[in-house]
Amino acid sequence: MSLVVRNVNKSFGDPPNQILKKINLEIKKGDLVSLTGKSGSGKSTLLYIISSLDKPTSGNVLVEGKDLHALNEKDIHEFRNLHMGFVFQFHYLLPELNTIENVLMPARKTLQEIQLEQRALSLLKEFGLSGKENKKPSQLSGGEQQRVSIARALIMKPSYLFADEPTGNLDSINARIIMDLFVKINNEYKTTIIYVTHDEDFSKIAKRKIVLVDGEIQ
Ligand SMILES: Nc1ncnc2c1ncn2[C@@H]1O[C@H](COP(=O)(O)OP(=O)(O)OP(=O)(O)O)[C@@H](O)[C@H]1O
Ligand SMILES: [Mg+2]
Repeated sequence: MSLVVRNVNKSFGDPPNQILKKINLEIKKGDLVSLTGKSGSGKSTLLYIISSLDKPTSGNVLVEGKDLHALNEKDIHEFRNLHMGFVFQFHYLLPELNTIENVLMPARKTLQEIQLEQRALSLLKEFGLSGKENKKPSQLSGGEQQRVSIARALIMKPSYLFADEPTGNLDSINARIIMDLFVKINNEYKTTIIYVTHDEDFSKIAKRKIVLVDGEIQ
């Protein structure tokens, strides 16, 4: 699948404050893309628009030629659940669910919880979380919680993984573990990954680097 961003503008407020200015880009299947730029340059705004979580003021986002923002809410939800995984700075795991239940959350929506349980267990094993299946998020370290949230993002075998500062809340050792995982996921599963980071080392692992300056691609 390729992802095309065409003439995307985004403004907030009234009078409108233009945050993204005529963004055009194409992201190829299997790419590993970093999105960097100063605080306030529009990185999160752009990531949310290309991942269908927010709408552009004008312009289009096309995935395999399908205009994401032309879909109705139900279809966009379904498309997202099947094709896109998300990782944020804060993990947003559900505190009352254990590790395996959190990972299987997206599968619950499509009634595939039982079929995907083995996959969940093998992702947890791959991410160094064997033995933590029945722990609640509060019983895990920050790095472990973030790895659970990555397993959750991958449970549906998405074509795309979007991440907004996934290491922003971690120490350097745990940040390195997450970076290595991203490279591994991109290699092994051919997942197209687009991630926002402030970390110079993390942006270096990307195959392609996109830099935003005041809402424009440099
Ligand atoms: N919902 C909103 N309403 C109004 N302004 C917003 C909204 N979301 C973002 N902005 C503004 O858009 C600009 C870009 O925000 P964005 O969150 O995309 O920046 P960023 O590059 O991700 O910054 P950071 O590195 O600090 O996360 C900021 O000036 C912000 O205040
Ligand atoms: Mg941001």
